Amino acid sequence: MATSWNGLSSVFNLAEENYVTLITALAFTVLWLLRSGLSYFRCRNRLPLPPGNFGFPFIGQTVEHLLAMRTADGVRQWMQNQVEKHGPLFRYRFVGYPIVMMSQPEGNKFIFQNEGTSNHMFWPSHMSTLIGPQCVITQGGERHKLVRRHLNRFFDRNAMSRHIHGVNRNAIRHFTNHWQGKEQLVALDMINLYSFSIICNLALSLEEGPLMDKIMEQFHPWSQGGYCLPINFPGFCYYKALKARGLICNLLDGLMKQRRRQIAEDHVPEALQKDILNRLLTVPDEEGNFHQDSFIKDNLLFLLFSGYDTSSSTLAMTIFYIAKNPHVYKQILQEHQLIVDGKRSNGEDENVMTMEDISAMKYTWGVIQETLRLHPAVTGTYRKTVTDLEYEGYHIPKGWLLNWNNQHSHYNPKYFKDPLKFDPSRWETRPPPFTYLPFGGGAHFCLGFEFSRMSMLIFIHHLVQNYSWSLVNSSYNGPFIRDPFPRTQDKVLISVKQLISSWMF
Ligand code: HEM
Repeated sequence: MATSWNGLSSVFNLAEENYVTLITALAFTVLWLLRSGLSYFRCRNRLPLPPGNFGFPFIGQTVEHLLAMRTADGVRQWMQNQVEKHGPLFRYRFVGYPIVMMSQPEGNKFIFQNEGTSNHMFWPSHMSTLIGPQCVITQGGERHKLVRRHLNRFFDRNAMSRHIHGVNRNAIRHFTNHWQGKEQLVALDMINLYSFSIICNLALSLEEGPLMDKIMEQFHPWSQGGYCLPINFPGFCYYKALKARGLICNLLDGLMKQRRRQIAEDHVPEALQKDILNRLLTVPDEEGNFHQDSFIKDNLLFLLFSGYDTSSSTLAMTIFYIAKNPHVYKQILQEHQLIVDGKRSNGEDENVMTMEDISAMKYTWGVIQETLRLHPAVTGTYRKTVTDLEYEGYHIPKGWLLNWNNQHSHYNPKYFKDPLKFDPSRWETRPPPFTYLPFGGGAHFCLGFEFSRMSMLIFIHHLVQNYSWSLVNSSYNGPFIRDPFPRTQDKVLISVKQLISSWMF
């Protein structure tokens, strides 16, 4: 063998190791040619891939997409440009993944209706690490159903009548502690406190105080991580996000340890027995398995996250639009005054809210829905195909990602007349199915939908009953930042005036 190597070396004047390299390179070339040939013949019999441009390997449209996602106009414009170039169904590449954007209502419906069969929930691995690999939103199939059912008892319609009094108490306390006596405030910062305290209360029975502040401090750097390049190296924002996650987990560890001790001593205060932490620690899942700490932390963390920024940014933007539209303010005021008048004439306590009151806030809900149409906290997420697909005359290979998205339909004059106009009256009628998707759809439809609806409406109720407000930068009309959630540049800086308060403390 050695001789033949030597022979060849002398013929071509090459060293033995150079031959190994040469033959390896040849073998790879032959394999690549064979593979290309095979896929050529396979594709000849197949439908074409969706139109679009993958750009450079791995990078694709990552940088331009991340830049566009920094403002509401940027995301909308990016979508519009792609649709103009390729049509509403197009392919692109983001952090290495081949993705098919299905921006039309039919495309979104196709994704949601085939979840669990031809597609599954998917998060890029850097995002899954950040969000929590065991939390409800990163699960698919049967495992997802199991986890969702476990949490659902805190979030279904029936549960809302159990939570409403706690949320209402929190809202009243929030205005007393943070709004009373102020002439000017940054609405988003204040609302962050409200949203975080109600979700901390529901999940951990935690009240406002140093521990809640410590957890909250880490949330912004953590949630920013989803919108950074996945570079886990000091100085990069993804690295900072992972570090923030670690710090929050340490604080949750402390809380879990303390609660476990109380459970072991049969000494859990009654108020704490009903929170999500207690349930996750004491109730096994339907298969009889008690949860591991990592599972509990992932899910608590995600609930705190999903209940916080999404609702805060929506409420702050709603306040912005109400201030911009005096006729909207007038109608909201009338709606809430009617609720209070009804309570007064029935001799009921006007500081107590009921689910009937929530149902009566139809116009206000339309105002929030309109805000969410223009500035959805979440514009879309991904699912992964688990089989080759044929859709609308195109071939979508197994393993590609599908992107449901609300940006094309939310701004489409076909579904929403004069789409850039803030017009809550359009919510007197329902939009066509799958055109309005701020809370997603299908198996992963927002679990906290009822809770966020109730808590946002209660906030607006107490706000309009007790304060009038105006924008400090009254001519501001953008840019609307996505950080990653929508906000104005000044985070909705407002002047406030307290009306005669009816609260009883
Ligand atoms: C304005 C407020 C909110 C908006 C716009 C919103 C939006 C969304 C969206 C779009 C999804 C679906 C994501 C997907 O399909 O990939 C989702 C899922 C979820 N949301 Fe919300 N959300 C809000 C408030 C809340 C609140 C207050 C909570 C809990 C306290 C919550 C808990 C969840 C959970 C647990 C999921 C995952 C459900 C699953 O995977 O089965 N959300 N949300």
